[in-house]
Amino acid sequence: MQLPVVFFVVVVLLSCFMRDGVQSKKDVVKLRWYMHDTPFNGPTPSSIPVTGYNASDFQNEIKKFLFGQIYVFDDPLTQGFSLTSATFGRAQGIYSFVSQEEIVGSVSYTVSIRTGKYNGSTLNILGAYPYSIPIKKYSIVGGTGKFILARGLLKEKVVNLFGPLNASATLSYHATVYLH
Ligand SMILES: *[C@@H]1O[C@H](CO)[C@@H](O)[C@H](O)[C@H]1NC(C)=O
Ligand SMILES: *[C@@H]1O[C@H](CO)[C@@H](O)[C@H](O)[C@H]1NC(C)=O
Ligand SMILES: *[C@@H]1O[C@H](CO)[C@@H](O)[C@H](O)[C@H]1NC(C)=O
Repeated sequence: MQLPVVFFVVVVLLSCFMRDGVQSKKDVVKLRWYMHDTPFNGPTPSSIPVTGYNASDFQNEIKKFLFGQIYVFDDPLTQGFSLTSATFGRAQGIYSFVSQEEIVGSVSYTVSIRTGKYNGSTLNILGAYPYSIPIKKYSIVGGTGKFILARGLLKEKVVNLFGPLNASATLSYHATVYLH
């Protein structure tokens, strides 16, 4: 190969492994967990509406795309699909419904990891996504502990609906975190 061609190939290869010229493949952490969100779950819901409507209005609210509803949640995160599988941590924050054209959930919350290598570290999650899209994607906008100044992408998929009003969900997550 000609020298300029070799140089071009090297630059292209390097750019595959480096971001902003400083990060390499080893600075990427991949994590998986499941979340269990159970609104309207009798006396122990894991998420509660804070905008003053009650469960019997839920079907009417669905027709209006739940627009304006805000929930505060404190959901258990597990390593496996089952709620009784090993703990991964907690997800604590707010989700709300922000569209008048379809159901669009907006989230802002913190994932607190309580196991393994990242025990005690947190990730902060932000974004809005239509419920009709099977794989939702949210921004990981930062974190604490081992994830200080981290960023990344969180993919979410609903894997089970159940409970009162079919409003409870088990969701699976794949996080790709770029470390500082
Ligand atoms: C809940 O909503 C239903 C239906 O609109 C209404 O009949 C009921 O009074 C409400 N309950 C409370 C506690 O506000
Ligand atoms: C996580 O860290 C906390 C605080 O240091 C500790 O009490 C707990 O046992 C740790 N959990 C695991 C599963 O290592
Ligand atoms: C609950 O949701 C699941 C999955 O979308 C669906 O198959 C099921 O029919 C729903 N059940 C009720 C009672 O709406």
